[in-house]
Amino acid sequence: MVLSLRVTASLWPGCNHHAGALVARAAAFKMAGGCQASMIFWLFLLLAESYQTLAGVVTTRDPNPVADEFTAVSLSCITTYNPSGELRVEWKKLNAGTDLVYFENRLRGDLVGRAEVQGWSIHIHNVTRKDAAVYRCEVVRKEEGYLGDVSVNLTVRVRPITPQCTVPKSVPVGKTAVLTCNENEGYPPSKYIWYRNGDPVPDDPKSNLKFRNSSYKIDSTAGTLHFSVISKLDIGEYHCVAENVVGNAKCEPQRMEVYDINVAAIIGGVLVVVLVLLFITIVIRLAYKRGYFTKKQSEKGYQASSKADDVDYVRSNPVDNEGDFRHKSSFVI
Ligand SMILES: *[C@@H]1O[C@H](CO)[C@@H](O)[C@H](O)[C@H]1NC(C)=O
Ligand SMILES: *[C@@H]1O[C@H](CO)[C@@H](O)[C@H](O)[C@H]1NC(C)=O
Ligand SMILES: *[C@@H]1O[C@H](CO)[C@@H](O)[C@H](O)[C@H]1NC(C)=O
Repeated sequence: MVLSLRVTASLWPGCNHHAGALVARAAAFKMAGGCQASMIFWLFLLLAESYQTLAGVVTTRDPNPVADEFTAVSLSCITTYNPSGELRVEWKKLNAGTDLVYFENRLRGDLVGRAEVQGWSIHIHNVTRKDAAVYRCEVVRKEEGYLGDVSVNLTVRVRPITPQCTVPKSVPVGKTAVLTCNENEGYPPSKYIWYRNGDPVPDDPKSNLKFRNSSYKIDSTAGTLHFSVISKLDIGEYHCVAENVVGNAKCEPQRMEVYDINVAAIIGGVLVVVLVLLFITIVIRLAYKRGYFTKKQSEKGYQASSKADDVDYVRSNPVDNEGDFRHKSSFVI
């Protein structure tokens, strides 16, 4: 290993001493160490140079610019040296497809009127969320051909909009309740904070006296406030704030009521219903028993006989009276 190193080392500046002769082991180690440092230095220079000539000609001041929506931002594209010959610069937006944003020395697409080009860089005066994308600056020399390119990943941060909140109006004591809060415009995605009567609901109920006896879980990413066992202490006006680095937005407070399930009232209600049903049943059964539902039949029989025998009309009277009597008696008894 030492030998091969010395042979290679002779090719490097600062290492060209007695390459052929084998010297004492200790001396060889010392020399090899010195040469290694020298080689690393030269390798580093070589790498730096190749990086510059191959990849670094076209570069950017900021490969990952971040801007708030409706502010200004630059997509920078620069060169590290002065390329000879005539140059052609093109910018492409790499979203779903590839849109030409700048070519033949003109801005294209929806950047027209909102941006300008200075040198090779694009300055957008009023960036929107639709501008968020990876852009590529490509530089071509008219005679010698491709010079290089660089990509710029533009991030646009967006203020949250008013979140949609759902708060149950009324919950029985001891049940669960879920309050939800959500909005989808903010970027980076919003975090959510719930408030009760203007006080922020803490992640840990134990951390605040006002919430100490409540049992709930908060998911600030999903925007849910989940009560596992609700109590009268949880009554109040609830609202939620969606928040990210750009700003925040809140929904209107909504009241949540908590009511007792009144066991006595429920039993009382059931008893009343049962009594009413019982009463109706008894009345119907009595009516059947006393022939109330067969009354029409007997009337029919009487009419038929009176029609069939007109002459006997007077004679039929006692029957009628008897029927009447029976009829009356059924109600008396
Ligand atoms: C940026 O554009 C939005 C609409 O896209 C407009 O409301 C706003 O006024 C503009 N801001 C500036 C500084 O031009
Ligand atoms: C661009 O940056 C965003 C973060 O703002 C990242 O999520 C995305 O993966 C990046 N895109 C590329 C192609 O690097
Ligand atoms: C919470 O409960 C304890 C006893 O369980 C009681 O002393 C305290 O007053 C309650 N706190 C609130 C805010 O109601």
